Parts: sequence; C-alpha cells; structure tokens
Amino acid sequence: MTVTRKSGCKINLILNILGKRADGFHELETLMLPVPIHDLLTFSTTGNSIELTCNKPDLPTGADNLIWSAANAFFKNTNIESGVSIHLEKNIPTAAGLGGGSGNAANTLLALNELFDSPLSFSQMSGICSKLGSDIPFFLQDKPALAFGRGETIEPLETATLLSGKWLLLVNPGFGISTPWAYQNLARFPDHLNGQPERARRLANQLESARTPLAELDLYNSLEAPALDKYPILSILQESLLRHHAVVAMMSGSGATTFGIFNNEAHVASAKEAIHSEFGDSFWTAVSAL
Ligand code: C5P
Repeated sequence: MTVTRKSGCKINLILNILGKRADGFHELETLMLPVPIHDLLTFSTTGNSIELTCNKPDLPTGADNLIWSAANAFFKNTNIESGVSIHLEKNIPTAAGLGGGSGNAANTLLALNELFDSPLSFSQMSGICSKLGSDIPFFLQDKPALAFGRGETIEPLETATLLSGKWLLLVNPGFGISTPWAYQNLARFPDHLNGQPERARRLANQLESARTPLAELDLYNSLEAPALDKYPILSILQESLLRHHAVVAMMSGSGATTFGIFNNEAHVASAKEAIHSEFGDSFWTAVSAL
C-alpha cells in the first residue's frame, strides 16, 4: 500500500528566548504560522527495513535523517514488524529556519499511523515527536500555534484574522545556519538570551482581534542577534524587502530564511522580482497567500 503526504513548513512571527535551562536547552515562547509550501513524501510498505530516497543527492538518507528516525520510532513504539520505503521530494530549503525537516518527521509519523490502522494516539505521537526535536510536535497539527518550553508544548490558535488576505514572501540566501550554533551564540547577547515573557501571547491576541495595524505588531526573533551579527547580508535583505513594500520583515527561526509580509499580491510579486534582480537567481524565493 502507498500513501502520499504533503509536508509543509512554518515561520516564527515571534521567537522569544527566555533563558538557558539546566538541561542545556533554552526556554522559549514562540508563535508559529504554518506555510503551505511543501515537500512531498511517498510511503510504501515493503520488506522489513526502512529505506529512504531523496531527489537531492546531498541529503543524508540514513539514521541521521529525521524521517528515518521518525519511522524507526514508529516501529519501535508500536512493535509492528514491517518495513517501509519512503521517497522525499525536497523543495523546502534545509537548515533554513523553516522547520522543513521537522515537518517531514511529523508527517512520517502521521503517514505510518495511517498506513498501519492508527496504533498510536495523538498524545503518543506528540511524545515521540518531542523526543525527536523541539519544533516537531507543531507539525502534527495545521493551525497557527503558540509554543512553550523547548518549543514542544503546543497551544493552537483558532484564528489569525489580522493576516487574512495578506501575502508572504520567503527569501533564503542559499546558506544554512546551524540551530545549535545560533543558540550557543546567544550567550554573547544577554538581552536577547533573557527575554521578557508574555510577548507571544500578546501577539496571539493581536492577531486574533485584528485591531492592531500589521506594521505595529510586536514581531521579534531573539536568534537574529547572533545571525545578523555574523551575516550582515540578512539585514540588507530585510531593508530591501521593506523598501519593496513589505509591511514587516524578519528572519524565521534560526535562519537564514527571511520573510516579508505584504498587503497585496501585486506588491509581493514585484518584491520577488526586485529581490532576484538585486541579489541574483541563486537566492531561493517562494510566495504564499496567508
Ligand atoms: O530540539 P532540536 O533537536 O531541534 O534542537 C537542536 C539544537 O538547538 C539543540 O541541540 C540545542 O542546541 C538547540 N535548542 C535549544 N533550545 C531549544 C531548542 C533547540 O538550545 N528550545
């Protein structure tokens, strides 16, 4: 039997780090928005091992790929003796702050659970996902959501009314930023390492009530401090987006993908063109309605 799943990505409208924890992780509050730009995953039950293939030859396809780990965790937790062959059609940039790999892991669990008649409950899948990575549980659901703790405690939002009718432009400059590097280097920026709590919940209220103009939203990303310090091009990119009618511009997650939010389709289309003529065609861009 074969199952195909689209595997999306996210942006963080706020990523507010509250401090370093005793276990080495960072306590945070964030608001993530699902973005319908997809990888494609195809699963076929076969044999008794996990086989992963990918259209991008440089991507690891063994135990160091989150898809493989998620499939392995599924079989371990269900005691099901079977194998699966998985093909990943990768469109979302990797190490990009978009959670593409995390989405792949969550969608692998969801797909295998569907293929094998739902042996796992939602809360069992959440538990497995949070062990695999901090922002993986978010991808088990499809709503904008607040996340707390390491990022694994999810609180879905009913609406983000303020964003309806707006347009998103994602720009990836073609280099990756390592998430552990970004967190470690926050230590050099104590104000950003020790953020004030409750900002994410205030932002969620603003998105739901839609009374605050988009330009006045408290968008913030603690991890911009180390990333923009090391890669000044990311600040230049944000300035360029704002010059080309983005109402707001910011880096997502641990970067380097930078997003702009626009009031209408004509503005987002002309900004995309302008970014390519300023920075060249090696930059990856994608447009989505919000
Ligand atoms: O949980 P995940 O595997 O995605 O985290 C990757 C790395 O990012 C961790 O090993 C840690 O260095 C850092 N991290 C952190 N605090 C978080 C999430 C991630 O320090 N809340």
